[in-house]
Amino acid sequence: MAEHPAYPVGLRLTGRRVVVLGGGQVAQRRLPALVAAGADVVLVSPETTPSVQAMADAGEITWTRRRYQDGDLADAWYALIATDDPEANARAGAEAERHRVWCVRADDADAATAWTPATGHSEGVTVAVLTTSARGRDPRHTAAIRDAVVEGLRDGTLVAPHHRTRTPGVALVGGGPGDPDLITVRGRRLLAEADVVVADRLGPRDLLAELPPHVEVIDAAKIPYGRSMAQEAINNALIEYARQGKSVVRLKGGDPFVFGRGMEEVQALAEAGIPCTVVPGISSSISVPGAAGIPVTHRGVAHEFTVVSGHVAPDDERSLVDWTSLARLTGTLVILMGVDKIGRIAETLIAHGKSPDTPVALVQEGTTAAQRRVDATLATVAEAVRTQDVRPPAVVVVGEVVTVGPPTAP
Ligand SMILES: C[S@@+](CC[C@H](N)C(=O)[O-])C[C@H]1O[C@@H](n2cnc3c(N)ncnc32)[C@H](O)[C@@H]1O
Repeated sequence: MAEHPAYPVGLRLTGRRVVVLGGGQVAQRRLPALVAAGADVVLVSPETTPSVQAMADAGEITWTRRRYQDGDLADAWYALIATDDPEANARAGAEAERHRVWCVRADDADAATAWTPATGHSEGVTVAVLTTSARGRDPRHTAAIRDAVVEGLRDGTLVAPHHRTRTPGVALVGGGPGDPDLITVRGRRLLAEADVVVADRLGPRDLLAELPPHVEVIDAAKIPYGRSMAQEAINNALIEYARQGKSVVRLKGGDPFVFGRGMEEVQALAEAGIPCTVVPGISSSISVPGAAGIPVTHRGVAHEFTVVSGHVAPDDERSLVDWTSLARLTGTLVILMGVDKIGRIAETLIAHGKSPDTPVALVQEGTTAAQRRVDATLATVAEAVRTQDVRPPAVVVVGEVVTVGPPTAP
């Protein structure tokens, strides 16, 4: 018989009966998508894997605890045959043929009347990849093509412009600590689709170089602010670009809401009636110590970590940090924006009870090619910053976790 290519189609299974025979690994892999498609799934199998059982317990599927019997496929719209009994699979395949039920065979693609494509999702689109014929079937190859397409759409290397009008507005995107690979998939996709990007000094600046030439990149620090505050000028610029109908990405270092003034921008946009979405980012407070081999918590060492801003000295009346209480905590203290004031901070912690020998590490420009780590103690940290010329941006970590990494930690 001539081998014709498979005819691709998208089944709309909502409320329709789908019968799955066999409760092993194949069912475990396929069931979530069938449930997500709204199918009325009946599983026939004497036993199942624990994950499949959990789906039955949760009422997501109906589980009939027995072997396949003739008649099981009579009312099905679609069937997945995946028992460990080849003879039962063959009988079920014949029954499916009799009742004209499209069926996938896990054990015999040639005998099947339907094949499951390698699928992935991106932005409201399902990517499904099938080999053309049974002879050329190479599931790893189809999965690799699926991955390449989905990845490309997500990170913007495969550009598929939307032909519907895009909703103008602002996306507040957390860019992560600096390494361009540490932005989220969503953040990267929004960047690839932006008309205007308003970026901070910190964060994944390398990504800006990859943007297509028509994208306007604005350095937030350079927006002229005249009589208003710098932040107000940024808010106004975001509002203005969005009002021109542009898709604006406000790219911030780390996470927008960790000392990032993100909520001020969200509020300003809300007051101006501009739609705004927030994309979280990997905060430097956890990732930068981690990149330098320092876990912010460690079993038996630190059961808490506290992130504070050190941009004003402890005795400054503008400080909202309770340094006296922090000195009593036994866990890890992570200080952002603290390089300039580290001497006063260390003195205050010691004065309120922290041991002068408490280990301290400063990680400068973490996750970038220029990353460096300087180790000290509370007693010596001010001197270390001076003699080793530690400069912002740096994360300061105070606590025993500084010493738990392997000796060769970066
Ligand atoms: C204004 S705060 C913004 C923090 C950011 N929203 C976050 O979640 O990481 C800036 C401070 O974050 C820290 N920081 C940010 N990126 C860093 C990096 N790559 N290496 C070291 N410190 C960094 C420094 O303490 C810097 O002074």
